[in-house]
Amino acid sequence: MIWQDLPHPFLILAPMEGVTDIVFRQVIAHAGRPDLFFTEFTNVSSYASEKGRANALERLQIAPTDPPIIAQIWGKDPTHFATTASALEKLGFAGVDLNFGCPDKNVNRTGGGAAMIKTPDLAVDCYRNALAHTSLPVSIKTRLGWSHPEEYHDWLSVLLNEHPAALTVHLRTKKEMSKVPAHYELIPDIVKLRNEVSPETKLIINGDIKDKAHALELHTKHPEVDGFMIGRGIFQNPYCFTSHTPTRDELMELLKQHLDLYEKNTYIHSYEPLKHFFKIYINNFPGASDLRAKLMETHTVQEARDIIGL
Ligand SMILES: Cc1cc2nc3c(=O)[nH]c(=O)nc-3n(C[C@H](O)[C@H](O)[C@H](O)COP(=O)(O)O)c2cc1C
Repeated sequence: MIWQDLPHPFLILAPMEGVTDIVFRQVIAHAGRPDLFFTEFTNVSSYASEKGRANALERLQIAPTDPPIIAQIWGKDPTHFATTASALEKLGFAGVDLNFGCPDKNVNRTGGGAAMIKTPDLAVDCYRNALAHTSLPVSIKTRLGWSHPEEYHDWLSVLLNEHPAALTVHLRTKKEMSKVPAHYELIPDIVKLRNEVSPETKLIINGDIKDKAHALELHTKHPEVDGFMIGRGIFQNPYCFTSHTPTRDELMELLKQHLDLYEKNTYIHSYEPLKHFFKIYINNFPGASDLRAKLMETHTVQEARDIIGL
């Protein structure tokens, strides 16, 4: 079981839609991999429908450098959670994670993501359906609550009562989005709750963690937290899972690798989203902002290659 095999503490690259795709994960595996990858989230009703399945399966492709990797899924239909969870083991995933924390309006309107906080019975139903249809460990990623941080006690108790394999808590409410600092002051209370209700559940803390050094600092203060998940920290430093400060040449090599893998991949087709990645690599060296501005004007991979000479 993957969650038992990880070091203490372990580090995870957060699932990020439009970011942690198969291409970017391979680049990060090269720079310095986390102990565990998560996919971007995949909608269970897409997977369960004839029309959406091919696309869902493309999003669920695994690269040779990915394992161990967890598939993250979202939706609001318990039977679709069952259908999707049952397919993930043979695709090569080490676990299934349920997204009960996404604050996106379109996601919440359908009843998925953080909207689950308002429908705890449905959340439990989705969890139980997924669990009953897979032999993989099932984990949950969520927020403290919908409006107020204090909601964490009731909401996390509901989830911990199901004894998930792991629980990731993004230390903010849905309403707080990412606008306020993560509520690190609640970590001791959340650890206590986990210890009381489900000591076997691995507890993962998420929110504003910059890099490995920051995670280890938090671990010194909160040794009972099992793992730390880093999201946007990867935008500041693609080597954030290591103690290494990259040189300009190393960053350019990562960009080259990203472009090479993008050209080889079979499902990410449009060029514009690729440009979001430039700021990750063209950063923190003299002349970076001028170079980045030029790259943002490009329309094809070849134009980008011509500018950077790779
Ligand atoms: C661009 C972007 C896409 C995201 N997509 C997902 C997602 O698909 N699933 C999920 O659980 N969280 C998603 N998140 C939330 C992150 O996983 C993480 O919880 C959040 O960014 C807080 O961590 P951080 O402060 O380390 O970035 C996304 C965040 C960003 C910035």
